[in-house]
Amino acid sequence: MTLPSIGTLYGVGVGPGDPELITLKALRLLESAPVVAFPAGVKGRLGRAQGIISQWLSPEQVQLALQFPYTADRQILAEAWKIASEQVWCYLRRGRNVVFASEGDVSFYSTFTYLAQTLQQFYPEVSIQATPGVCSPLSAAAVLGIPLTIQAQRLAILPVLHSLAHLETALLWADVVVLLKVSSIYREVWSVLQKHQLLEHSFAVENATKPEQMIYADLSDRPQLQLPYFSLLVVQVKPHQLSIN
Ligand SMILES: C[S@@+](CC[C@H](N)C(=O)[O-])C[C@H]1O[C@@H](n2cnc3c(N)ncnc32)[C@H](O)[C@@H]1O
Repeated sequence: MTLPSIGTLYGVGVGPGDPELITLKALRLLESAPVVAFPAGVKGRLGRAQGIISQWLSPEQVQLALQFPYTADRQILAEAWKIASEQVWCYLRRGRNVVFASEGDVSFYSTFTYLAQTLQQFYPEVSIQATPGVCSPLSAAAVLGIPLTIQAQRLAILPVLHSLAHLETALLWADVVVLLKVSSIYREVWSVLQKHQLLEHSFAVENATKPEQMIYADLSDRPQLQLPYFSLLVVQVKPHQLSIN
């Protein structure tokens, strides 16, 4: 009896929210996979990636909602990643491919990285492939109708919840700063931007490309903005000046 070869785990970026922003390759992989995994939603709600892909899935496909707790506790995280990797390995070792759908891009602050690294640690023979997706800073620029960067401009991207201390440095160094994970720390960020007189040149984007998308241009009068988790700021530290030279 020959053993089945091991299946492949495909990490697939499914874009920022609008299901039409899934790439053709991601869609082909999603539709052909026997097993489709994604981060579970919280409190019984659909997960973000799950909501984006649900219309492309069929009832014959196994749908695997994996738990990735929202905590900084390293031990809780490591345990959750181990459990998730075991759930996925159950299918891979029997020769079944698994597609893991990740909101935005798979290599950009994505849970896919934790899943892939844990699988590689415990099952080194695992086969993994990544398919990129449209990430949130690019989606935000599109819905704002601005170029994110031009010419020699320097871009800094900070997950500011974890790096507020670096915000001032980024503002000194970069021409454009994008701040992710900003919702719970918005008030502090607003004060730093005020100090640097950048509020006029700052945009907030909630749920870019989703039907509930909101855009706020010029944050000067908005110290109390209540942003959801899926929101970001674009700060034009040095406003774009197109030069022909
Ligand atoms: C864990 S990171 C995931 C990034 C994602 N993998 C990507 O490619 O954009 C989550 C943060 O990305 C940002 N984000 C993701 N999708 C967004 C969207 N549609 N609109 C605004 N911000 C978004 C928010 O700042 C959120 O706190």
